[in-house]
Amino acid sequence: MINFLHNTAFSLAGIPLAIYTLVCLAAVPPILWLYRFATRQQPLRGVPIVTLDGQKPEEGWYAKPRELLIKGRKQYPDQPFQVLSYSGPKLVLPQRYLEEVRDSPNAAFAPYVVGDMPWNLPGFDGFLAMYKHQSLIPEVLRVKLTQSLGLITEGLAEEGIMVTEELFGKLAPGQWHNITLLAEATKIISRFTARTMLGEEMAHDPEYVNLTIRYAGVAFPAALQLRRWPRYLRPIVQYFTPLCQKARCEARTARKLITKEVERREKLARAAIAAGQKVSKTHDSVGWVLEQSKTDGKLDLVGFQLAIFTAGIHNTGGHLFTALWYIIAYPKYIQLLREEAISVLKEYGWTRQALGRLRLQDAVHRECLRILRSNLATARRQVVKGDLKFSDGFTIPKGRNFVVMPPADYQGENEPFYPERWIEKRAGEGQANKHAFVAANIENQEFGVGKHACPGRWFANDEMKIALCILLLRYEWKAPPGMQKPLFAACEDFPTFESTVQVQITPREPEIDLACPKI
Ligand code: HEM
Repeated sequence: MINFLHNTAFSLAGIPLAIYTLVCLAAVPPILWLYRFATRQQPLRGVPIVTLDGQKPEEGWYAKPRELLIKGRKQYPDQPFQVLSYSGPKLVLPQRYLEEVRDSPNAAFAPYVVGDMPWNLPGFDGFLAMYKHQSLIPEVLRVKLTQSLGLITEGLAEEGIMVTEELFGKLAPGQWHNITLLAEATKIISRFTARTMLGEEMAHDPEYVNLTIRYAGVAFPAALQLRRWPRYLRPIVQYFTPLCQKARCEARTARKLITKEVERREKLARAAIAAGQKVSKTHDSVGWVLEQSKTDGKLDLVGFQLAIFTAGIHNTGGHLFTALWYIIAYPKYIQLLREEAISVLKEYGWTRQALGRLRLQDAVHRECLRILRSNLATARRQVVKGDLKFSDGFTIPKGRNFVVMPPADYQGENEPFYPERWIEKRAGEGQANKHAFVAANIENQEFGVGKHACPGRWFANDEMKIALCILLLRYEWKAPPGMQKPLFAACEDFPTFESTVQVQITPREPEIDLACPKI
């Protein structure tokens, strides 16, 4: 080494080349630091910054977002404040700005969420699809999927009966069995999603269904983990991060598994579109995407499927889990919900009309949504196009990320579990839709508000109601001694469901023929 450093055979102006190399290498970190400093968004002047004591500001937002937001609200009631995140400062607005946010064309959802994701790295193909097709994906769900729901209710019920049989069919009657609630609820939702998006054959391929669960289970945490690193280091760090390695591997497997099926459907859909016909309304998200897509072009149809795994499975699985947990913890609802399901299904069969009449169940799901989401910020947005100027003069410059705080009187888990509150609210004149589970408005903001409110919520509604009817009619449920309350946590502004909570289940004979309940 010493010889190499002094070797004038490799020299410029008498200084050995090796010295140049060392100087250049030593200069890299300060240059990168300067670059980061120069390109990093700075906090907005004049808006206070809130941090948690004894914690790096970014880590506070990463690991304890609820505490941070509650502290901010206490310190600055009804006033904007800022939190610092690994991807820059975020403004937190009080509730009074929500209506203007809802109506502003300058406030966009996808750049806030996906812009922070490593969408340009291998393995994150779902985020790339969302990033590239920011309006197409929500449109496909809002228009095509939602319009098809009436046609797929029976199919979903059939799938629900099949999947519960596979999961719990071998459990001996007359004995109580422990099951891990979150894992089983997520499996049910993944089957519904697979069947709806790519049809029965894919839904019955265990390798594929397991992959749909695993992909979102690694892509999201991997993306969140990468946020701790500066953007310019992420392309390197990803190779040493086990979760990113897993995400790459799962994305490759997904491509291998679904490309053939996606291409087959693409061919059929293109032929139908070319012949001026409508594509199939059921079990064909590929057809929906192609029909809805105006640009056509370079749409990654496999990426679209991965985007749906990440947006729809764990979210809904987590909510079904929460609903079941609360019903088991407050068992008087088990019998009430059963009676409601029997009377409604007997009259209407497996139809959307029936799902709309499950009033108590609707209220249970809304109550769970309130509990889970109410302490997290709502309406996550990035200012796009131009600055966002509010009527009181407060202005957020273009490119800034912000969220809106929930109403101050929302107490989430601190309020008792009382689903009846929603039945009472819905009984008021003209209030039935306003407080339904799928409502997304200023009073009920857990699915967001306005143009960017969750476009998958009608599907989530149907999935959860069908699943719960089947699960309650086919099984008895009870809490094992000392059943723990699940930890409803969050990472940044994403609710996280990590639970090993077990509950007890035993088979029962349903009062109606679930395959054909209408009398
Ligand atoms: C109980 C289950 C679910 C909950 C609680 C939920 C919640 C949300 C929330 C809070 C937003 C952001 C809205 C805003 O900030 O204004 C959102 C957006 C979104 N959700 Fe859901 N969601 C659920 C299920 C689903 C499902 C099943 C799908 C897909 C099949 C889905 C797809 C999406 C998409 C694509 C967006 C982005 C909308 C846009 O960019 O405009 N969600 N969801």
